[in-house]
Order: sequence, then C-alpha cells, then structure tokens
Amino acid sequence: MSELKNDCLIKSLMKEPTTRTPVWIMRQAGRHLPEYRDLRSQAGDFMSLCQNPKLACEIAMQPLRRYKLDAAILFSDILTIPDAMGLGLHFVEGEGPKFRKPLRTERDVESLSVINSKVDLSYVLEAVSLMRKELDGAVPLIGFSGSPWTLAAYMIEGHSSRDFSRTKTWLYKHPEILHQLLQKLTLSLIDYLNAQICSGAQVVQIFDTWGGILSHEAYEKFSLAYIREIIANLISRYDDREVPVVLFTKSGGNWLEEIASSGCNAISLDWTVSLREARRRVGANVALQGNMDPAVLRSNPESIESEVQRILDSYGSGSGHVFNLGHGITPDIDPRNVEVFVEAVHRYSGA
Ligand code: CP3
Repeated sequence: MSELKNDCLIKSLMKEPTTRTPVWIMRQAGRHLPEYRDLRSQAGDFMSLCQNPKLACEIAMQPLRRYKLDAAILFSDILTIPDAMGLGLHFVEGEGPKFRKPLRTERDVESLSVINSKVDLSYVLEAVSLMRKELDGAVPLIGFSGSPWTLAAYMIEGHSSRDFSRTKTWLYKHPEILHQLLQKLTLSLIDYLNAQICSGAQVVQIFDTWGGILSHEAYEKFSLAYIREIIANLISRYDDREVPVVLFTKSGGNWLEEIASSGCNAISLDWTVSLREARRRVGANVALQGNMDPAVLRSNPESIESEVQRILDSYGSGSGHVFNLGHGITPDIDPRNVEVFVEAVHRYSGA
C-alpha cells in the first residue's frame, strides 16, 4: 500500500472517524485562480491544458498551494469522453462547450464505438499518474466522470442548455435510441473510471449534473439505473485500499433513498437540501458531502464563517461528513474568501 499522509477524506467517505471534517471544493482548480488564468492564456485554450499532462498536473496542484485542502482532483473535463467518441469538443470563450458533430439521428448513435481509455484517453491517464507522483501521498487524488445521462444530454444538444429540450424529445419520442446511447456511455465510463483507478485515482466522483431535470420515473430509468451499473463494475479496492465512490446529482434531493441504494459510498448534496434531514434519511448507509451555496463565497468573512458553522452543526457530531460546496466554485470568487472558508472548516470542526 502506498503511503497517504492525510487520509481523512477517504476515512470520512467510508464513514470512519476522523479528527476533523475534511474539505475540498468542486472546481477548485480553475478560473477563480489568477495563476490558472495565466497558464490558460499561455496555452491558448482549455482543451490544450487538459491534453497536456504536465500542464494539467500543474493546475491540479495550484489550489493545494493556496489552501489547506484534503484532496486534489484530476484536472480534466467530463466532456473528454464524447470528444474521444468523435464528437469534436471545443470551447468558445464566454459560451462554454460545443460539439462540432452533435448526435442528430439514430445512425449517429449506432455508429458510436465504446471507448478504450488506454488508447483514446491516454492523456488523461498520464495526467493521473503524474499528479499522483507530484502529490507524493500528501492528500488523495479524486478521479471523475460525468454520468451517462449528463453526457448524453450534451451530446444530443451539442452545447449547454437550460431545458435540454432536444434530449427530452428523444426521451419521450425515441427512448430506445437514448437507451442505446446510454448503454454505450455506461460501458465507456466503466472502462474510463477503472483506468483512472489503475493509474492512481484514489476516490471517484460521478457528476450527474443534469439528473435533476428528469421526472421521478425517468430519473430511475434514464440516469440512476446506468449509474448503478457503472458502480457495480468499478474496482472497489486498489493498492490495498478501498476506492470510495461519490455521486453528485444536482437537484437530486427528492431521491436520496434511491441514490443511497446505487452502491455509492457518499452522496454529494447541493444547497437545497438540509444536511440534518439528509443524514436522518440516508446517513446510516452513506457519507454526505456538501453543501454550502457557492454564492456565500461572494459575501464577507463573517457570513462565510457563520455559514460554515451552521452547516457543521446541521450535520452534527460523528463521522461521515465531507465539507464541500453544493456545486462548483464560480470564476468571480476572491481567493481570500476561499481561504477564510477552508480555515473556518478546519477551526470549527476539530483539531
Ligand atoms: O477542479 C475541478 O473540479 C476539476 C476539473 C473539472 C472541470 N470540469 C474543469 C473545467 C471538473 C470536475 C469538471 C466537471 C464538469 N464539466 C461538469 C460537472 C460538474 C458541474 O459543474 O456540474 C460539467 C457539467 C462540465 C462541462 C463543462 N466544462 C462546462 C459546462 C464548461 C463551461 C462552463 C464553465 O463552468 O466554465 C466547462 C469548462 C471547464 N471545465 C472549465 C474548467 C476549469 C473552464 C474552462 C476555461 O478555462 O474557460
């Protein structure tokens, strides 16, 4: 087993006791850091950063130099999978991700191949190995992917969307084509996440960012069923250690029991859910991650500290809580407020 100097994240995700509540931040590496913006302008664009393992590694380390975080997260994006499947990902400044060849017909879905990560996404796996080397056991490295449903939604729309209307049309008009796509993505994601684990990811998080736009029945059928299949096929122990799985379904607060039964070790919660209530409902079975509203970081040290205290009190004592935001940090946040946030979690949660 390789040495891990700070294992409080993994312990909390496994619901084992720790001396304080671990903390990391979704999207901790990225545009809120001036040193990230510098590197991006040198590299030209975001995808060039992702595809260069040395630069990706450097960016993953940037937030750890500023803040006392309990984890690093792979610097990459969930949309590298559709890119590897041939859809042609690019980022347009101020507009977000776009695909050159979004899915339009049944034939488009039929002609997609399941990816072989070692061949198609070797740059991600190299970045993972490099990050593990660079971390040298200081904190665990989190790997990640999108959920099949969330990736399918981007692949069908071709870009970000507020209502994902094309995707929902497929869901109700051509469910069998959507299922074919979700199955190919599921097999690709099993391969991808297991490859990340074998390259050094010590925790994996599945981002189901758009699960919350589905009806109750559709969520189970079109999102959670495939996530269950992924989790059931992941390597659960590697290098003599458990590899915990965290599942984040944005706006998934209505389905905590179903999400908890997916096989995940922890549920990442957005800020619409009460941690106390979530713990009462599913805390016996899974750990909970979250859930401060990222907008709090736009306020001042007093408000940030009191929100941190309120959230810690809401979870209460005992193991199984990982502090995080309820969604990614936004680019407009002042790093000084992030420092206040991380320090407050340390100060109020123990040693
Ligand atoms: O620090 C980290 O958390 C690791 C890196 C990471 C990125 N994207 C880097 C990124 C992770 C975990 C993601 C996940 C991701 N990507 C999700 C799921 C999480 C969530 O926020 O809901 C989604 C939906 C995407 C797709 C995506 N990537 C969008 C919609 C956008 C554009 C909008 C935005 O937030 O910028 C991206 C771009 C992206 N991914 C950036 C970064 C640092 C910004 C790129 C830039 O520098 O302009």
